[in-house]
Amino acid sequence: MNLKESIQSKTLPKHIAIIMDGNGRWAKKQGMMRAFGHENGTKSVRTTVENCAELGVQNLTLYAFSTENWNRPKLEVQALMKLLISSLKKEINTLQDNNIKLSAIGNLSLLPTKVHNELLEVINKTKTNTRMTLTLALSYGSREELLNTVKEISNKVKNNIISPAAIDESIINEHLYTHDLPDVDLLIRTSGEQRISNFLLWQIAYAELYFTDVLWPDFTKEHLYEAIIEFQKRERRFGKTSEQLN
Ligand code: FPP
Repeated sequence: MNLKESIQSKTLPKHIAIIMDGNGRWAKKQGMMRAFGHENGTKSVRTTVENCAELGVQNLTLYAFSTENWNRPKLEVQALMKLLISSLKKEINTLQDNNIKLSAIGNLSLLPTKVHNELLEVINKTKTNTRMTLTLALSYGSREELLNTVKEISNKVKNNIISPAAIDESIINEHLYTHDLPDVDLLIRTSGEQRISNFLLWQIAYAELYFTDVLWPDFTKEHLYEAIIEFQKRERRFGKTSEQLN
């Protein structure tokens, strides 16, 4: 039986989030600039998006640029921004043809105007697509998201729109950048690092974590299948005992 046939469609993760790590090391191994690694990383993005959609995964969220990434060398940041614009331009038709909706989370106002505009255009054009939601985390940091949430809720309390006693998990969810997305079921990080790096801290509360040594530009559909198969082998108890689940 091949890998794909081992995947059960009934228990697919509803939301896969990926920390795409290792582009720089991949490029260094070939004696190339870091930007070359990012360029090749876009090939893995394409394969992963296509294969998630084909399997029937409803939500895929990719950590493309963190709030901390602004501190990288200016040239690298510029190269990444250029790559984003060219990828958005190149992939808009594929997103449309495959009925995929593009979304973005993060402090998008910090993005260069050109990137921001291109992004908003693709988001707008694909907003009625229903097969899968592809969310790009851009200028994203989970602590910044939580701070923003606390500020928004505090303002509503101040203006008597919400009473403090009414604040519950669903109110917090509604104020996160991810308000339209379900919790993450499976979090994948490539390149051998075993950290969360300020990604979706609230949303991964019950996620299965999957770490692989593969560098992001080398991540193929088989690696994606392996991660999903491993997810399906794990028993998710959400704090209950095994017996309670049966
Ligand atoms: C981490 O590798 C990767 C990034 C910071 C950027 C990821 C971006 C892409 C894959 C391309 C653009 C994305 C889209 C959605 C079109 P690293 O540079 O931290 O690698 P290292 O840890 O080996 O240095």
